[in-house]
Amino acid sequence: MASEPFDKRSGWIWYDGAFVPWSDAKVHVLTHGLHYGSCVFEGERAYGGEIFKLDEHTARLKESARLLDFEIPFSEDEINAACREVLVRQKFKDAYLRPVAWRGSDMMGVSAQNNQIHLAVAAWEWPSYFDPAQRLKGIRIGMAKYRRPDPATAPSTSKAAGLYMICTISKHAAEREGYADALMLDWRGRVAECTGANIFFVKDGVIHTPDADAFLNGITRQTVIQLAKRRGYEVQERAIMPEELPSFDECFITGTAAEVTPVSEIAGQHFQPGPVTKTLFEDYMAEVQPKKAAAA
Ligand SMILES: Cc1ncc(COP(=O)(O)O)c(C=O)c1O
Repeated sequence: MASEPFDKRSGWIWYDGAFVPWSDAKVHVLTHGLHYGSCVFEGERAYGGEIFKLDEHTARLKESARLLDFEIPFSEDEINAACREVLVRQKFKDAYLRPVAWRGSDMMGVSAQNNQIHLAVAAWEWPSYFDPAQRLKGIRIGMAKYRRPDPATAPSTSKAAGLYMICTISKHAAEREGYADALMLDWRGRVAECTGANIFFVKDGVIHTPDADAFLNGITRQTVIQLAKRRGYEVQERAIMPEELPSFDECFITGTAAEVTPVSEIAGQHFQPGPVTKTLFEDYMAEVQPKKAAAA
């Protein structure tokens, strides 16, 4: 079932400092970001009208751009304000926000020293998932053919559009095999992450997650580690080899979109969504609730 195409929706998009009607928020076909992947973005989520960890997302956006050798011409405060204004203008409470920055059309070639840097922020409604029973059944994940690149090969900690090329290929391949997502190894053959989420395992009540040294150290990942420690769980961030998968009892993935999603299978290896996953799922859903509402 196809949803309404994104370029056919209505509303307003913040574009280089002003609001433009949704259908006018365009780029030219000769845009550096389109041809050479000089584009970075964020995925944020608002719950009850408040954007969860907005400061952290904005800081990562600026840093992602610096890793691609460009500076977004707006301060973190200006970007935060833009994100909040988009939410208000669109009258959304529970929504997904997509800030995106890219090199424009001034020069077309590998060198793009004088290209203008653009920034846009769009948002669309995305209600929070309210069926924990269904969610706790877990998703099935396949193994990806491609690996996350060596940080010596690509700026692997940038949320750069180009790095998603292998994620899309991997997710498509997994979906063709009936899986919901794909687990990617890193260039050393270690367990890394899924195509849009980080991964955690549980063994004998201890939480294990790969060191975030070759992939995005997700804001949700960091939040969940804090929540787990607050609960008194031991969390081991370490190298995890795929051969270890059979030894784990529980598995879950984390991300702004995925929140905390239990995993029931990775390519034939089964897991039981269990008490640790359930606790962290509930703690995360409580954590994202707007602080103003929680205090009221
Ligand atoms: C490849 C990848 N890894 C991990 C994550 C999780 O990051 P976050 O928790 O900041 O959304 C995402 C989502 O943005 C992602 O796309």
